[in-house]
Amino acid sequence: MVVGRKNGRGMTATIIDGKSIAAELRGKVAADVARLKRDHGLTPGLAVVLVGQNPASEVYVRSKAKALVEAGMAPFDHKLPESTGEAELLALIDRLNADKAVSGILVQLPLPPQIDAQKVIAAIDPMKDVDGFHPVNVGRLSLGLPSLVPCTPYGCVMLAKTVKPSLAGLDALVIGRSNIVGKPVAQLLLAENATVTVAHSKTRDLAALARRADLLIAAIGKAEFVRGDWIKPGAIVIDVGINRIDGEGGKSRIVGDVAFGEAARVAGAITPVPGGVGPMTIACLMLNTLRAACALNGVKAASL
Ligand code: GUN
Repeated sequence: MVVGRKNGRGMTATIIDGKSIAAELRGKVAADVARLKRDHGLTPGLAVVLVGQNPASEVYVRSKAKALVEAGMAPFDHKLPESTGEAELLALIDRLNADKAVSGILVQLPLPPQIDAQKVIAAIDPMKDVDGFHPVNVGRLSLGLPSLVPCTPYGCVMLAKTVKPSLAGLDALVIGRSNIVGKPVAQLLLAENATVTVAHSKTRDLAALARRADLLIAAIGKAEFVRGDWIKPGAIVIDVGINRIDGEGGKSRIVGDVAFGEAARVAGAITPVPGGVGPMTIACLMLNTLRAACALNGVKAASL
């Protein structure tokens, strides 16, 4: 595994190079996909369903399709209008559940208000739930049973383990309790034998909690919310945030939930934004699609 690159800007932290770590993982997935095709005549396929025209979602969906093709898998894109009704979306899910060419189903969130996202997630075959959001997979993860695991949390843990292969006994602080990141990443860290605290908007004295954390996962959705003086010297900092802010010259720029410049002077290792967690989310989605294809067809991937 690529660990990261040492920065040359007067900072002490190793920059965890999510882009190259993700590229390495996607390369392994692509090699396994090629073997699946050769040995079993099987091509994993992922159906990505986008309802409406959320610009951020459109960007994500395009990058997922590109990564799929690069890995030798089949993309099935379903773009539905903003006005799509719940029954129509549920009927599509039924068809995708029954389609042998579809190994994974991802319904991009958020959905428009007329659609109950939980109802849609629950309609997906748990074996094809590459997001790991179905109650069966959420339950299996919390029971410590094998399951399809949400991609962003999985990527966060993989990145942390490139710095420290064993997270056992570490004090881990997860800031954010969303179903997509905070809760599942806490479960994954527990499974790695870390001591896990989950903080949220009602948490008292967050800065003091953060200063005790050997591993800090920031998934709040607030630009540069975590400051440098919250970071324990030498800590591993994984920044899940993707926030667009006004930059110089009227141009916007993307920053994380952590004030990167300040934190990098104190942390032992830190993910950049962009180029940290984001690429890992896509790579883990490829991995989940491969795993789903293998499980559905009763075959074993060679290296995973
Ligand atoms: N929207 C933001 N993150 C995600 C994700 O990981 N999966 C899906 N389906 N939608 C999202």
